[in-house]
Amino acid sequence: MQLITGKAKIAAVLGWPIEHSRSPLLHNFWLQRHQIDGAYIPLAVKAEDFKNVIQGMKAAGFKGCNVTIPHKEAAYQCCDIVDETAKKMGSVNTLWFTEDGKIHGTSTDGDGFVANLKDADVTLTDKKVLILGAGGAARSVAYSLIQDGAQITITNRTLQRAEQLVRDLGAGQIIEWQSWIKELGQFDVLVNTTSLGMEGKDDYLFDLQHASKDLVVTDIVYVPRITPLLEAAELKGLKTVEGLGMLLHQARLGFSKWFGVDPVVDHELTEFVANSLKK
Ligand code: ATR
Repeated sequence: MQLITGKAKIAAVLGWPIEHSRSPLLHNFWLQRHQIDGAYIPLAVKAEDFKNVIQGMKAAGFKGCNVTIPHKEAAYQCCDIVDETAKKMGSVNTLWFTEDGKIHGTSTDGDGFVANLKDADVTLTDKKVLILGAGGAARSVAYSLIQDGAQITITNRTLQRAEQLVRDLGAGQIIEWQSWIKELGQFDVLVNTTSLGMEGKDDYLFDLQHASKDLVVTDIVYVPRITPLLEAAELKGLKTVEGLGMLLHQARLGFSKWFGVDPVVDHELTEFVANSLKK
């Protein structure tokens, strides 16, 4: 059994609500694996209390935290030092406190997405990638894909949001939502960043009839683990990459900042977290 002492390093995840978060499970799995004297706890924090809680955590000696909905933009405002990725996103999901009293922040979602594809041996340089959606998740994914040398095209139900995203990123093409199905043949990778296919959300028919046989299909939704899009791709014999790996990879940077070990994403961790999704 792993016990924590008075010297334990403490980190947290802040959200409202927070009960659904799998981050405590996965960070505590790594803490156990590496026999680290530390803990990672869920904190249900209302928007109006967020800033005070961050200051309180810093004063109480926390090493840092993850933040999730609805705090990612507010967390950006709390940071003293942010990197280029955070500036481009206008939001952060990972904060760490340093001994000089500074709050550092970055957004690891996009890097987590790219690392998950690389784990599945998908290369991205010069690849044509079609992104479904233009929300916050699409912004992270698109930015990291561009950094990796991919050529991105965005399609979104609300065209103006796609146009705004391409303007903000300074790169990328747009196609109309009604056209993506018949245009699919020209792409190497298809990624869903919308909530379509998520448990309890709107039904949607992902029609992949025009896909080339080498298309790689990935989803950032991971509940259910095999989403309707991934199911459609598997039926056509296409290569698929599950969204769960993005969640696991985005967690790595925070863990290494707070606990001093760079953890790995492997089969054992993936199955451990996947099992928790069945309940
Ligand atoms: P997130 O930050 O998780 O990306 P979001 O900003 O609410 O969340 O974005 C959700 C995405 O799913 C958007 O691209 C949204 O399309 P709109 O911009 O048109 O709202 C997309 N989405 C949600 N429901 C959809 C539906 N029924 N059909 C098509 N797209 C949908």
